Amino acid sequence: MNKAIYPGSFDPITNGHLDIITRCAKLYNHLIVGVNQLDDKKEFMFNAQQRKEMIASSVKHLKNVEVIIFNNLLVDFAENENCKIIIRGLRVLSDFEYEFKMALMNRNLNDEITTLFMMPHEKYTHISSSLLKEVYNLGGDISNYVPESIIEKFNNK
Ligand code: COA
Repeated sequence: MNKAIYPGSFDPITNGHLDIITRCAKLYNHLIVGVNQLDDKKEFMFNAQQRKEMIASSVKHLKNVEVIIFNNLLVDFAENENCKIIIRGLRVLSDFEYEFKMALMNRNLNDEITTLFMMPHEKYTHISSSLLKEVYNLGGDISNYVPESIIEKFNNK
């Protein structure tokens, strides 16, 4: 089965993530967006279920995309889903070091699973979920960077 996993925190999903998801959905028969439930480094604004729902509503037009929450090792999640490809986005050079380490660690943990990298559209290379949260919280306009339904979720917070 031609299948891939695109994992992340997605707190919240941005148009940059959506750009990658849309590109992957054209390349693979089945794309799983894996929502990481546990990350010690981060305090999430939205819980995993909310993040999952926000992604699902943003990708409902893409029939081959499924959204699943995971709370174990990424390679174990991939193996359980019978998936051998992990997709990660690379926006700028500074992403590389972190991604390089993660890809090599994942390969050491399970050599059957390969990480592939993809660049989002250049209009999204300067954004991240934290940056958008900061801009929104200080009254800035983020409507160019997230789906409309996500703005509603922000407003309801
Ligand atoms: N457009 C916009 N922003 C993007 C983006 C894109 N295309 N791609 C990444 N980002 C941003 C995210 O918004 C996020 O920003 P933030 O830090 O401000 O919130 C940042 O880049 C990185 O986020 P993301 O791509 O979601 O990755 P992550 O580092 O939060 O999550 C996991 C990484 C979930 C894949 C990793 O932690 C993991 O695998 N966890 C499971 C446990 C495990 O296996 N650990 C060992 C790994 S070796």
